[in-house]
Amino acid sequence: MAGRIPESFIEELINRVDVVDIISPRVPLKKAGAEYSACCPFHDEKTPSFTVSPQKQFYHCFGCGAHGTAIGFLMAYEGLEFVDAVEELARSAGLEVPREGGGGPPRVDNSGLYELVDKASEWFQARLRENPEAIEYLRQRGVSGEIARDFGIGFAPAGWDGLIKALGTSDIKKKQMLTTGLTAQGDKGVYDKFRQRIMFPIHDRRGRVIAFGGRALADKGPKYLNSPETPLFHKGRELYGLFRARKLGGQLPRLLVVEGYMDVVALAQFGIQYAVATLGTATTAQHSELLFRNAPEVVFCFDGDRAGRKAAWRALENVLPVIKEGRQARFLFLPDGEDPDSLIRKQGEEDFVRRISEAKPLSTFFFEQMEAQTDMASVEGRARLSALAQPYLEKIPEGMLRDMLLAELRQRVGHQIKFFTTTQLPVKKSTARVQKISNSPIRIAIALVLQTPNLSASWPKIDELQANSLKGLDLLREIVDFCVSRPDITTAGLLEQWREHPAGVHMGKLAADELHVDDKIREVHWQATLGHIALQVASRQLEELIELQRQGLLTVGQKEQLKELLKRKLELQQNNAVVE
Ligand code: UTP
Ligand code: MN
Repeated sequence: MAGRIPESFIEELINRVDVVDIISPRVPLKKAGAEYSACCPFHDEKTPSFTVSPQKQFYHCFGCGAHGTAIGFLMAYEGLEFVDAVEELARSAGLEVPREGGGGPPRVDNSGLYELVDKASEWFQARLRENPEAIEYLRQRGVSGEIARDFGIGFAPAGWDGLIKALGTSDIKKKQMLTTGLTAQGDKGVYDKFRQRIMFPIHDRRGRVIAFGGRALADKGPKYLNSPETPLFHKGRELYGLFRARKLGGQLPRLLVVEGYMDVVALAQFGIQYAVATLGTATTAQHSELLFRNAPEVVFCFDGDRAGRKAAWRALENVLPVIKEGRQARFLFLPDGEDPDSLIRKQGEEDFVRRISEAKPLSTFFFEQMEAQTDMASVEGRARLSALAQPYLEKIPEGMLRDMLLAELRQRVGHQIKFFTTTQLPVKKSTARVQKISNSPIRIAIALVLQTPNLSASWPKIDELQANSLKGLDLLREIVDFCVSRPDITTAGLLEQWREHPAGVHMGKLAADELHVDDKIREVHWQATLGHIALQVASRQLEELIELQRQGLLTVGQKEQLKELLKRKLELQQNNAVVE
């Protein structure tokens, strides 16, 4: 594993790149005043509410609330992890990503491994071109030459050391072959792991080959052999076909999750370019997050038999925690004995697309499965349904979907059974699409300084604001201090600095908040807000002193302080009145 990326590098990166340059090749931007606008790539809309601010180095959609920095954009739009987004951005800026040794494990350079696996993929493809038996196998299965090329399908010939001879030209290379799972260690030495198999290269999200799946030609050994877990490949995190599906353009409206390599290939050949496969595992929670980061709608496709239903239920359990507004999961069950590969070849694209469009919504599948376990005709049975459903509903993040499922559960159970009390499972109204911040002066101050960092130059050094008694005041002061030490910092730079901090998410929202404060009077507004905060702090201290006085515990010094504070409070009140 690589070491940590130093914070200073993130700062430099955000300084170096322009968020407009990162977004504009992906989303066509129109200049609108000092900002740019476009139709939002993260939700469906006809009139543009997506804006990019070169000054803040920040994007924000007034429609769906999406917002973030250049790094955040790549994560959301390209479905990349933080580290991958940083690397991608660094590459576009011609920078090398440094790593800190320090606490983390030392940096390992995997570039040699990627190169080797890529070479192996080319070697397999070349072997396919010269092997009539393998070509005939694919032909019989209906795989076109074009789609085979497109997916980089290859062939691992019989024999124990063909690949070793071709690539294992040095001790280092031999070691790398073992590390990447291309070879295996046996009693008699090292040998090619994949033999007499059709080879499916697995790509990561950046398009690099990281592993293989091999389909046996003969009835020998397991039908499919997959690369083991390696430094490049963690099967619970990868989806076969995802890179290719993404490459075909922009934000995907939908992803179809199937079980097999051949299913993805056949669907693509027949025109369905948004299928991906889990790699011989159940759909994990990581898969679910990855799927929804890439498309708002995910259709899980399974066999119609019992094993298929069981697998679908596991997928449902893993998808619940990532379901939220704007994300839809559906379940498609195929007729017995069919898989997508066989079915689309028999019935064609149109039939398959119709099946996809008729796939069961998550809620339907959920209640179907739940009700199959209970006797819905009896009161006891319906009560049991409530008990069964509750742990699942609790896994869903608060929001519209949970409310809807809860409402449906109530309806199915009947109103006479009040199983859920509001304290057990609060039914909260879904949050407004664009969140308005509350009027707490500290939150307003944080929003102001995030959006206009140079306001920090006029941070008053008054005692009240040094006191540590108000929620959020610490954070405000930290942000201001940071701005003072970095006079050129942008909104984006600040957000990246606090990305890992628990307050990071709130700060993102505050940075995106429309404060309805004209740029010309931001300074006045800032001062007034700080005045309010000072008043709050003074009032808080006064209350404490007055309480002490009531109990007769006031020291002489505190008596003086009380007098001072009363005077100060009066002043502040007058000042605030003048500003307002
Ligand atoms: P299936 O047995 O349904 O095979 O396995 P399939 O995809 O229909 O394959 P064909 O059509 O006979 O060629 C589904 C998936 O499960 C994993 C593979 O990812 C496969 O595509 N699998 C299956 C394995 O990893 N190992 C196996 O031995 C079998
Ligand atoms: Mn099959």
